[in-house]
Amino acid sequence: MSYDIDTRCIHGLEHKNKDANFAISYPIYQTASFSHLTPGHNPTGFDYSRESNPTRSYLEETISSLEHAYDTIAFASGMAAIATAFEFFKAGDHILCGEDLYGGVVRLIAQVCNKNGYEVEAVDTTNPAEVESKIRSNTRAIYLETPTNPMMKVSDIEAIAEIAHKNQALLIVDNTFMTPYFQNPIQKGADIVVHSGTKYLSGHNDTVCGFLCVANEELSDRFRLLSKTIGATLGPFECWLVLRGLKTLALRMERHKSNALAVKEWLQKQPVVKEVYYAGSGMISFTVDSEERAVSILKNVSLIIYAESLGGTESLITYPAVQTHPDVPKEQREKLGITERLLRLSVGIESPNDIIADLEQAFVQSIQ
Ligand SMILES: Cc1ncc(COP(=O)(O)O)c(C=O)c1O
Repeated sequence: MSYDIDTRCIHGLEHKNKDANFAISYPIYQTASFSHLTPGHNPTGFDYSRESNPTRSYLEETISSLEHAYDTIAFASGMAAIATAFEFFKAGDHILCGEDLYGGVVRLIAQVCNKNGYEVEAVDTTNPAEVESKIRSNTRAIYLETPTNPMMKVSDIEAIAEIAHKNQALLIVDNTFMTPYFQNPIQKGADIVVHSGTKYLSGHNDTVCGFLCVANEELSDRFRLLSKTIGATLGPFECWLVLRGLKTLALRMERHKSNALAVKEWLQKQPVVKEVYYAGSGMISFTVDSEERAVSILKNVSLIIYAESLGGTESLITYPAVQTHPDVPKEQREKLGITERLLRLSVGIESPNDIIADLEQAFVQSIQ
């Protein structure tokens, strides 16, 4: 029997108690190491928590069930998961990546991976014909976010997966914004899914974590080797926090979305708002008529918190040009639309009336 995703958020694939003591809330195995009975006899399979830990395994199985993945590895941050994904490549390889990516990934590519001898080329992944035209004989992967952060551009995962596979390349999708509740990239043909689990998956602005989900055994073997060797895996307590957060993922995502739709409608009616970018989930970006107004709105919000990050219960407002994307060259930022007039809202799950009332008073104050 296969459960709906709402149920899998709570029980994983099977409704069976996986703890030896039948605890309902899976225990935190706060241990670095595990004892062996005799040499070569280790009945649990757990040796050392960098490599594996029962709390982490339980979380990884739950995420695999949500993402329809063969295997998932939990990392200490989204960036740790993404940096480990890039360790897959070697000198001489060519990788195509979306041109509108989270700024930390742009920094990883430009300032860390640049020493590795592979080439990473930016492409507009919303245009499959353009992606196809940039494929080379040494292209090993296409890496994209959909929707993108912060411009909410959407790529056709199925079309890009087809192009990748026709050319023996992998498709890697960052599914942070949509989460498996709204989008399953592996079911649409992606080979690898990465997440900043810091966001919707943990959901409470209290945990930094990341996930790398793979579609098959071969990728699982390679990334298990990389993760145990590099060692940026997630600690047991954080794993437990994510497990607790996940139980309400379905409820939270529904509320994030309905709140975001209400806020989007309100924003679209404001004369000082010039563009509204929305592609689903709880994320909205919008531009106002001047940089001064953008700064003033940030200063005057009260319930909504001016802070980086997204996907938690609290509504946050972010200034992408300054906070999340300063490492993207200004010229590229302007080309993408990440100007000083752009604000990004992570709409929380408070009352939609209170969120809109707070925006309203911040807008009014910005006019005076
Ligand atoms: C889309 C996206 N991917 C990856 C990351 C990196 O994740 P983390 O901050 O958990 O390292 C972020 C962070 O904001 C993000 O927004």
